[in-house]
Amino acid sequence: MPKRGSWRTRFGFYLAAIGSACGLGNLWRFPYVVGENGGGAFVLLYVMFALLIGLPLLIGELILGKSTHQSILAATASLTSRHTRSFVWIGRFAVLTSLVVISYYAVISGWVLHFSTQFLVGIINPTMLLEKGRLDHLLSNGFLQMGLASVHLIFVIVVVIKGVQEGLERWIGAMMPVFSILLILLVIRSLSLDSSAQALRFLFYPDFSKLQLSSPLHAIGHVCFTLSVGFGTMVTFGSYLRDGDHIPTAGFRVTVVDTLLSLFAGLLLFPIVLQASNIPLTDPGLLFEALPRFLLQMPGGVLFGFAFFVCLYLAALGASIGLLEVVVSNLVDQTKISRTAATWISGAVALVLGVFPALSSSVFKFFKVDGKSLLEMLDGFLINVVLPLIALGISLAVRKGLNKKEREKHFVDSAKIESVTLLPHWELALKWIVPGVIAFAFFLQLLSWL
Ligand code: PHE
Repeated sequence: MPKRGSWRTRFGFYLAAIGSACGLGNLWRFPYVVGENGGGAFVLLYVMFALLIGLPLLIGELILGKSTHQSILAATASLTSRHTRSFVWIGRFAVLTSLVVISYYAVISGWVLHFSTQFLVGIINPTMLLEKGRLDHLLSNGFLQMGLASVHLIFVIVVVIKGVQEGLERWIGAMMPVFSILLILLVIRSLSLDSSAQALRFLFYPDFSKLQLSSPLHAIGHVCFTLSVGFGTMVTFGSYLRDGDHIPTAGFRVTVVDTLLSLFAGLLLFPIVLQASNIPLTDPGLLFEALPRFLLQMPGGVLFGFAFFVCLYLAALGASIGLLEVVVSNLVDQTKISRTAATWISGAVALVLGVFPALSSSVFKFFKVDGKSLLEMLDGFLINVVLPLIALGISLAVRKGLNKKEREKHFVDSAKIESVTLLPHWELALKWIVPGVIAFAFFLQLLSWL
């Protein structure tokens, strides 16, 4: 077996894991899913599930990678070889899901790219920004969306070809502190709007009557998506981990940072949206409808907007790299093709698949079910149905595939005495909470369908 790369520093791992977790899921997807599911009660569910379901699974995926030193396909195959039951389907589903998700993730990343360039143009020529910097202008132009998605995919391919260490660490590191500061400044500004009390109430007051039967499954799906669980990304990252790294601590930090970022995105967006009052809270374009308008009214907003969308673009890039990395590392592990060829092939497949979501609001705009576009249907099916199923599979693979000693070896760190007490809680979460809650959420979803 070729020698496997490993993170040069512990910080390198954090950059990649946080870079993969924090992305469009937090800023684009979280706000409108909260809007769709009625606000505070859903936010509460989301935070609870992040800790009770997302975190144990994230730790499980990292342990799966670290203990097998392989990516998800090979890891699940090696578990299968030791047991009578097969775990390979979990790996296959995860890789396939990653591939399809990159295709529409690239489309949304293309939107971010569009707004970055529009704000750049706006610094020189503000009237042009007013004209072209609108979401509907972009949505009606499917070919522009395809072009932008292609540019994005090419960036991702180039970074992934450079390999895990050089590729990932540098990019994301530089951007994170800048993005955090920008976000905090914008949140302060947005909370100074008159609608902020209403927004805080909407986000944090749990009115359970607003939940729908499908809300728990939506919350689980979103938690998996935003923490990059169920794609195999964290298995790959775990396989590059070195021996001294304590996985539960790493998992906990990634979960906390990611969840805080989503809550900040909510704090930023809801005052703006509620103030404007003519943007539907359930619109998948919520971020792109609301934020540019707000920025344009703000002194120095164009410059701010440019910086913000560039940072958001880099976040989307970091996440896309994580997604493509799964497909590539699995292809390389499974076949004899080179990393470069594997990267171009998977990038090209993602591009072809991306044609459908890219054209969903133009050429395919008449293809709607229940008022949902092709992109929304794809996103809804993969995130709300497929991901929770993979999550179930992962909890099974970690619990049944690895033996108790292996799990303990990677979970417990003798220097961290609390890890001994936490082990049974993690085991309990994987054995009962994760499968129980997901099964119940599916049951509620079925009731809503019926
Ligand atoms: N977690 C990322 C986000 O929230 C999406 C992602 C999923 C990235 C899986 C990599 C792997 O945007």
